[in-house]
Amino acid sequence: MSTVNRQWVLAERPIGRAVRESDFRMQESPVPTPDDGQLLIRTLYLSVAPVMRQYMLDGAGFEKPLAIGEVMRGRGVGIVVESKHPDYAAGDIVQAKLGWQEYVVSDASPWWMIYKVHQRIAPYSTAIGVLGVTGFTSYLGLVDIGRVKPGDAVVVSGAAGGVGSNVGQIARNLGCGPIIGIAGSAEKCEMLTTKLGYDAAINYREEEISPRLGELCPDGVDVYFDNVGGNTLDTTLTHLARHARVVLCGRISEYVDNEEQPYVLQNYQQLHKRVASMEAFFIYEMEEHFPRAEAAMARWIAEGRLTYAEDILDGIERMPKALIRLFEGKNRGKQMVRVDPNAEAYGRD
Ligand SMILES: NC(=O)c1ccc[n+]([C@@H]2O[C@H](COP(=O)([O-])OP(=O)(O)OC[C@H]3O[C@@H](n4cnc5c(N)ncnc54)[C@H](OP(=O)(O)O)[C@@H]3O)[C@@H](O)[C@H]2O)c1
Repeated sequence: MSTVNRQWVLAERPIGRAVRESDFRMQESPVPTPDDGQLLIRTLYLSVAPVMRQYMLDGAGFEKPLAIGEVMRGRGVGIVVESKHPDYAAGDIVQAKLGWQEYVVSDASPWWMIYKVHQRIAPYSTAIGVLGVTGFTSYLGLVDIGRVKPGDAVVVSGAAGGVGSNVGQIARNLGCGPIIGIAGSAEKCEMLTTKLGYDAAINYREEEISPRLGELCPDGVDVYFDNVGGNTLDTTLTHLARHARVVLCGRISEYVDNEEQPYVLQNYQQLHKRVASMEAFFIYEMEEHFPRAEAAMARWIAEGRLTYAEDILDGIERMPKALIRLFEGKNRGKQMVRVDPNAEAYGRD
C-alpha cells in the first residue's frame, strides 16, 4: 500500500465563469490511519457531476460550502483496507462521499451516506453510475416524480448524459412511447437511438426543438424529464399533453451563465392550460427509496434490458479535466474517473 495520499483541493472559486483546471491544486498527504470506530477506504472510482461546480461556489444549498484548500467533495467507490468499525471488514466494497482523494478515513456516520456494494453482476463502477445515485435519480425521477404510465410520450433533455442515458431505457422497460431524447451532437443522437432505448433524438445544436417535438409527439408530451432547464424547458412546455408531468431534475444550461440573472420562463402558463404539473426533486431526500430503484435496475441489467453508458478517464490527476468535460458536452454517459487501475480485480475470486 502506498504511504502517500494524493488529494485535489479547491484553489479558486469559478465565480461567474466556467470551471478551469487551475481552480484545483493537487497535494500529497500521508495516508491516514483509522481510530476505533473508523475505517480506512482506498478509492477505486470517483464520480464526476455538474453539482460539483456548485460545491465549489456555495455548497449547492445542502452541503457546507467548501473552504479554499479543502479536499473536493464527491462520491466514489472504494475498498475497505483496514477497519476498526464493527459493521465493516477489510475487503468490503463501499460507495460513499469519499472526496477527490486516494484514501479516506470514515466513521460511517450518516453524512457519509455509505453503502456496501453487494452485487457482483456488474462492474464496481456501476455503484456510482447506473446502480448508484445517478441511476436512482433516473429511476425515481421518472417513476415517482414523473409517474409514468405505459403509452406515455416521454421526452428527456441531456439524454446522453449520466442520468439521461438511463431514463430512455427505463421508460422503454415500463412500456412508454414514443421516447424522445434531446442531446448536443449527431453522434450522441445516434447513440440514443441505437443503444439507449430512445425512439428518436433531437440534436438541439443543429435542429429547432419545437417543430421536431411537434412531429415526434403529435399528441403532446406526457412526461418531460428535464436535465438542462432554460430555453429547452421553456420550448417543451408548449408541447405538453393534458395532465402532463414535468420533472425538474437539473438545469445545467443555467449553471454557468445565469447566476446573476436567472432564466425567466415565458411559457409557464402552459402548465395551467394543460392542467399539468412541474415538480423538482432532490435525490438525497429520497434515500428510503434507493433499494427499490436498485432492485429494479439490477433486475433489468441481469435480464439484458438495461445497458449502461460509462465514460471513464484513468488516473486521479484527470479529475479536473473530467469535471470540465461535463460543461463542454464531451461526456458520453456517466462521467467518472478510475483512480485504481486494478479497480475491478478486488474481491472477484
Ligand atoms: N435532482 C437531483 O437530485 C439530481 C441528481 C443528480 C443530477 N442532477 C442533475 O441532473 C442533470 C444531469 O446530471 P448528470 O450527472 O447526468 O450530468 P450530465 O447529463 O452527464 O451532464 C453533462 C451533459 O450536460 C449537457 N450540457 C452541458 N452544458 C449544457 C448546456 N449549456 N445546455 C444544454 N446541455 C448542456 C451536455 O450534453 P449535450 O451535449 O447533450 O449538451 C453534457 O454532456 C444535471 O443538471 C444535474 O445537476 C439532479
